[in-house]
Amino acid sequence: MAKDALSKSNTRKARASAAEPLPAETRGDLPIMPMAGDLARVLVSEEEIRRRVRALGAQISRDYAEGGSLTIIAVINGALLFVADLLREITVPVQIDCMRVSSYRNDINPVQEPEIIDMLRLDLRGRHVLIIDDILDTGHTFERVTAEIRKLGPATLRFGVLLEKLGRREVPARPDYVGFSIPDEFVVGYGLDFAEHYRNLPCIGVLRADCQNPPEWA
Ligand code: IMP
Ligand code: MG
Repeated sequence: MAKDALSKSNTRKARASAAEPLPAETRGDLPIMPMAGDLARVLVSEEEIRRRVRALGAQISRDYAEGGSLTIIAVINGALLFVADLLREITVPVQIDCMRVSSYRNDINPVQEPEIIDMLRLDLRGRHVLIIDDILDTGHTFERVTAEIRKLGPATLRFGVLLEKLGRREVPARPDYVGFSIPDEFVVGYGLDFAEHYRNLPCIGVLRADCQNPPEWA
């Protein structure tokens, strides 16, 4: 598939179907887990995640149907759960690799320059590559990861995120696939963590302010 044709037709489609910002009120039911008590409220329920992941998988499958195959790069740890579920909704042949990036040092303020801790094993030359991250916040991770992958010579390169935080961008970043647009609050669950906790919550919720700096995690 021609690079231009892919980027023009599909970027447009992807933007049009990205979810609207979610209303701020509580959504969905709290999961039955003790750590769910640390959430101020649920922002995206398990069911909403499932539906949106299914829709994104269908969209990606359509977008890459002509391309032959796709290489997905998961930015871990945050994108682990999202990518695992998304992969099962994608019907075109897929290769997968992971890139470990660290943006946080045990609190809610990102370090200035995201650090690439572990790089890929696959050869990306001439491949259609889709990077998947958990959340787009300031855009520094997007910028850094995209620049690194571009150096490896993919035929096409796109970026998808489960969540896009509104009003936080410090560098321009326009993801091609967005699960949900959310307000500027610190969220955890479905792969997203605070100091490596909460990744296994099945929903996405706002972390209570008094749980954001427990002394025992310092
Ligand atoms: P950025 O470089 O500021 O765009 O941040 C992207 C990374 O910061 C994500 O991949 C997450 O790991 C992390 N991050 C940003 N906002 C949140 C949040 O609300 N909860 C958990 N992690 C977050
Ligand atoms: Mg991350």
